[in-house]
Amino acid sequence: MGASGCGKSHYVKSQIRKAKPQRLIIWDAREEYGDFAKPTTSLADVLGGLRSGKRVKLAYRPKTMDEKVLRAKFETLCKIIFAAGNVTFIAEELSDVTSPSWAPGPWRQISTQGRHRKLTVYGTSQRPASIDKHFLGNATHVRTHRLNYQADRQALAQFLDISVDRVVALKGYEFIQKDMRDAVLTAG
Ligand SMILES: Nc1ncnc2c1ncn2[C@@H]1O[C@H](COP(=O)(O)OP(=O)(O)O)[C@@H](O)[C@H]1O
Ligand SMILES: [Mg+2]
Repeated sequence: MGASGCGKSHYVKSQIRKAKPQRLIIWDAREEYGDFAKPTTSLADVLGGLRSGKRVKLAYRPKTMDEKVLRAKFETLCKIIFAAGNVTFIAEELSDVTSPSWAPGPWRQISTQGRHRKLTVYGTSQRPASIDKHFLGNATHVRTHRLNYQADRQALAQFLDISVDRVVALKGYEFIQKDMRDAVLTAG
């Protein structure tokens, strides 16, 4: 989580470079992953790639400004990924496609049951107070960089169980991260 330019995508890419997943699908609405995976605007390509059983690295670009269409495309992508299983899925800017009280059913399924489908999921947002609550609630790791809005700082302080002052103090590319299973905090 973090404001624009704080290093979210940079961090996610560094993790993927280490993990080298065989099956990588990216919700790349902001079109930042062209250097990283093959861009496509076709959900059929994603489906075909995952059905092929081969190595697949696709950056799916919805190419629409219409919010309803954007959400429908995200929902379909999530449905394909959940059904396929065994995928590393990067979902960039979740506040475009979810809200605190609403998320597409297949995204909820990914958040709550994804582990059983062998899904590894990275979600990013500039406005974490505006995203679906189940996502952070089910995360293995929660990481925040600097945040510009008070509601977002408070939301992250609450999730990380730290004082909001520590979140307010973040600057540049600094972060605080919590391993939710072992309750270990790291900062850097
Ligand atoms: N830890 C870091 N050290 C140096 N440069 C960084 C670091 N994190 C990010 N950057 C650079 O800052 C810019 C913005 O980072 P990016 O990850 O795209 O931000 P975000 O996805 O949060 O908007 C990129 O050019 C990236 O290479
Ligand atoms: Mg980014």
